[in-house]
Amino acid sequence: MSTDTPFACPKCRQPLSPPGRDALLTCACGATYPHLRGVRRFVDAEHYSGSFGYQWNHFSRTQLDSANGSTRSRDAFVERTCWSTGELQGKRILDAGCGMGRFAEVCADAGADVYGIDLSSAVDAAAANLGARPNVQISQADIFAPPFAPASFDYIYSLGVLHHTPSTQRAFQSLVPLLKPGGRMAIWVYWDRLARVMPGSELLRPLTSRLPKPLLLSLCRVAVPLYHLHTIKGLGLLTSAALPTSMDPDPAWRVLDTFDWYSPRFQWKHSVDEVRGWFTAAGFDDLATSALPVGVSGRKLA
Ligand SMILES: C[S@@+](CC[C@H](N)C(=O)[O-])C[C@H]1O[C@@H](n2cnc3c(N)ncnc32)[C@H](O)[C@@H]1O
Repeated sequence: MSTDTPFACPKCRQPLSPPGRDALLTCACGATYPHLRGVRRFVDAEHYSGSFGYQWNHFSRTQLDSANGSTRSRDAFVERTCWSTGELQGKRILDAGCGMGRFAEVCADAGADVYGIDLSSAVDAAAANLGARPNVQISQADIFAPPFAPASFDYIYSLGVLHHTPSTQRAFQSLVPLLKPGGRMAIWVYWDRLARVMPGSELLRPLTSRLPKPLLLSLCRVAVPLYHLHTIKGLGLLTSAALPTSMDPDPAWRVLDTFDWYSPRFQWKHSVDEVRGWFTAAGFDDLATSALPVGVSGRKLA
């Protein structure tokens, strides 16, 4: 693992010292960043991302491969990034919006040096899951003010995250400078067609995202058996358009994914051409598109 540190002050971009893994970081501008409960803290509030803090601390291990004995998160990582895990060995990687750390675990298992950031208290779940690993560092930080020096990472990925920020494209653009020339970046965001096939949730979300989180979670538990109705040929098309719930085969994942669908403050959707256009405009080539839209990856031109 590399011994130098990529951390830089999110306010003024100067390097932070000392390089110690668990130390209080200080900047010449006077800013300090503590290491609390296993997490380096570059923000002191969750801002709009509180639903995710609640979600990932509640479902802190449901989707973690090492906890559920599956390879579902590894498979999703490979599918959405269009990368193989074999290419990640020894690479310094940023997981932007790491949640409880399921994809960071995949990269750490592949031998990468992983830096996970998340705006929400999901970082506490991620640190509990992965913080003991020498090749994983979790920070509570904002993609729009990332605590890293330019050109720090060989790989950057952000899966299921950027469409939950105030601006998907601006969030993408704020990550690009952190990538080394020749480095690879992958993002996966929601597809614009989802809004058309699930109009019911588009209408409901302004209300559901304002509900107290425990109440919404209880409603999701009640709604999730609709799954069986949604599987009925013909009728299911209507019921799932009106009141969509997750169609995951695992009941626990269904509750989690349904909460995830109805709770976020921001949830933008995009076309494949639009996202490919962002990569091209930002100076990427070698673009690949995932089978499950919208995942795009590319190489930053040197
Ligand atoms: C749907 S979750 C996905 C988590 C993880 N990538 C996964 O797929 O399991 C979206 C995550 O993005 C995080 N997030 C949203 N806005 C962010 C921002 N500006 N900076 C960092 N993380 C952010 C949320 O807190 C949340 O944990």
